[in-house]
Amino acid sequence: MACCSLIITSSIIVLLSLTLCIGLVVFLPQNPKFYVTDASLSQFDYTNKTIQYSMALNITIRNPSMKFTYDYTAIEGNAFYLDQRFSTQNVSVWKPPYVNKGGKSFSMHTVFRGQQVLNLSDTQISLFNKEKDNGSYAIVMRFILFLDKLDAKVFCGLKVPLAANNGSANRFKNTKCKFVK
Ligand SMILES: *[C@@H]1O[C@H](CO)[C@@H](O)[C@H](O)[C@H]1NC(C)=O
Ligand SMILES: *[C@@H]1O[C@H](CO)[C@@H](O)[C@H](O)[C@H]1NC(C)=O
Ligand SMILES: *[C@@H]1O[C@H](CO)[C@@H](O)[C@H](O)[C@H]1NC(C)=O
Ligand SMILES: *[C@@H]1O[C@H](CO)[C@@H](O)[C@H](O)[C@H]1NC(C)=O
Ligand SMILES: *[C@@H]1O[C@H](CO)[C@@H](O)[C@H](O)[C@H]1NC(C)=O
Ligand SMILES: *[C@@H]1O[C@H](CO)[C@@H](O)[C@H](O)[C@H]1NC(C)=O
Repeated sequence: MACCSLIITSSIIVLLSLTLCIGLVVFLPQNPKFYVTDASLSQFDYTNKTIQYSMALNITIRNPSMKFTYDYTAIEGNAFYLDQRFSTQNVSVWKPPYVNKGGKSFSMHTVFRGQQVLNLSDTQISLFNKEKDNGSYAIVMRFILFLDKLDAKVFCGLKVPLAANNGSANRFKNTKCKFVK
């Protein structure tokens, strides 16, 4: 008798922990997966300590969670060249918040355009000229995801080709962005 109740008790415990594990997998949030799927510059000129830029980006965000939803109120983009920020704007603002359900993805197209004073050193200017010859620039994007209850940040290290440079060697490569806490 004692042996059987022990077996029954332990099976119940195993069953309960299994249910808990599955529950956690199903309902726990997982970080959104953030990709820059395409990028190109129609302008990136540095004269008179001023950068004049026009950069188009396509972004895709996926919520890999099973049941957890993310409510986006805004996504802000910050663009950096050689560690200096040259552009900040909201890619999108949602009112009411955009509901990104588990397993679903959504895409956005945005253009960062304008001019900004940048103080590049001589070595940085020669790097700029090298990248100009190559036809693509190393640009870092930081996106701030304004979510219902918390904000998250992602960083993307991009090699953005000039649109005029249409050689296939400089095709933009789909880039996955990294989460920072
Ligand atoms: C982004 O997607 C649009 C179509 O949705 C496409 O026309 C465009 O070439 C893509 N790339 C960039 C950099 O905008
Ligand atoms: C460069 O900037 C200076 C001061 O900001 C201005 O006086 C000058 O006209 C500018 N030159 C050009 C070519 O834009
Ligand atoms: C983008 O939108 C958020 C939320 O509305 C706001 O806090 C933030 O200041 C905005 N950023 C810019 C650059 O306008
Ligand atoms: C630009 O950078 C140089 C050296 O890095 C510095 O001496 C100068 O003060 C800076 N100018 C501005 C306007 O920030
Ligand atoms: C690609 O580049 C070549 C040479 O720069 C140019 O002649 C051609 O028109 C370009 N094609 C497109 C589709 O932009
Ligand atoms: C030139 O551009 C290509 C494509 O973006 C990149 O893979 C390569 O590393 C670049 N070369 C240099 C010297 O920056």
